[in-house]
Amino acid sequence: MSRIKVDVCAGTHCTMMGSMDIIASIESLIDIEELGTDCEIIVNPIPCNGHCEHGLHSPIVIVNGKTITGADSETIMSEIMDIVRAEGCL
Ligand code: FES
Repeated sequence: MSRIKVDVCAGTHCTMMGSMDIIASIESLIDIEELGTDCEIIVNPIPCNGHCEHGLHSPIVIVNGKTITGADSETIMSEIMDIVRAEGCL
């Protein structure tokens, strides 16, 4: 089974810039049954790691170790779907 680990900053700056909307988008994707059982998406809220530089680069999301700055739901969903397709989970 492939695991897609998505860490979403839940720090103050990133939350103000929409990180909770990103988590909601990922959670709605997790609920889609078509993903099957070959891929598991794990989403974790994480504390500020300083990459935001006081909100300048918020929201911060880390997808399988790749840090994405200024993230939005569309960018993160695209990143996840690229991995899902590459892993043959659809
Ligand atoms: S508040 Fe998200 S990285 Fe700092």
